[in-house]
Amino acid sequence: MTTLSHKTVPGPLRGSTRGEPAAAAGPTAPPVLSVRDLHITDHVTGRRIVHGVSFDLVPGRTVGIVGESGSGKTLTCRAALGILPPHFEITSGLVEIAGTDIAALTPRQWTALRGATIGAVFQDPASYLNPSIRVGPQIAEVLRVKKRLGRREARRRTIELLRAVHLRDPDLVYGQYTHELSGGMLQRVLIAAAICADPRILIADEATTALDVTVQAEILDLLADLRESAGLALVVVSHDLAVVAQLCDEVLVMRQGHVVEQGPTRTVLHRPRHEYTRLLIAEHEQYGLDTFLAPQEVS
Ligand SMILES: Nc1ncnc2c1ncn2[C@@H]1O[C@H](COP(=O)(O)OP(=O)(O)O)[C@@H](O)[C@H]1O
Ligand SMILES: [Mg+2]
Repeated sequence: MTTLSHKTVPGPLRGSTRGEPAAAAGPTAPPVLSVRDLHITDHVTGRRIVHGVSFDLVPGRTVGIVGESGSGKTLTCRAALGILPPHFEITSGLVEIAGTDIAALTPRQWTALRGATIGAVFQDPASYLNPSIRVGPQIAEVLRVKKRLGRREARRRTIELLRAVHLRDPDLVYGQYTHELSGGMLQRVLIAAAICADPRILIADEATTALDVTVQAEILDLLADLRESAGLALVVVSHDLAVVAQLCDEVLVMRQGHVVEQGPTRTVLHRPRHEYTRLLIAEHEQYGLDTFLAPQEVS
């Protein structure tokens, strides 16, 4: 079995002690996340939910998954994170994280991998933070466990992270409870928590869906910043094509568990080949999808 790479990617958010440039990234770099012909089945009902999802994700790049609700986007992410709901299983296909087949991972190896190599932000921040503990110490605790930082250093680093996700008063936020924060602030706290152990891959599953348009745009900018500065590889899941148009290099269009269309974002959005993609685009035109596409690209 191959050993897992825990190499962290340098960059401004990686702590100030290392001065290396951002990770060399590009389509030729080896993928940090590889999904090959993934099939997921609900083995209680026998229902096949996801039929053959494949993509490769390299550092500094973003893959988007779009499609209507119930099309299998979240289960695809959960499979890659090793957190499928109890009665779901990967029935065929392969997921590799940093070159390691996840089927071979022990629970202990998963624990080491989560946060440190692959992190995730989901739609509902409240359910991932403990409402009875101040948010700062929750992140600091992750740093103490994953990065073996001392109490004081963990606090310092947490405040640095809260600042990095553009929270205006990180010292104040550190000591606040979830109910004291707005949706946008919570989502930023969650991103800070997801990136605190320097993952190489971040999965953002409808991470901005519950937010108003302005805050959503800010969070998307933040994700783009992280990708540039830290060489983070992103999986962005959204039912919103505009989000994908703004962030993603490649897009997968899912419908009822199938990938109906996949390719470079511009190609898919400008020259959709599948009827369903055309429908999605038509639905989004009223929301100003065009504003995200360079005019010269529109044919
Ligand atoms: N925990 C679960 N229990 C039962 N069914 C589920 C569960 N999670 C997802 N499903 C079903 O699997 C299908 C795909 O769901 P999901 O991946 O969440 O879709 P999406 O994220 O694209 O909206 C849906 O039909 C959904 O009802
Ligand atoms: Mg979902």
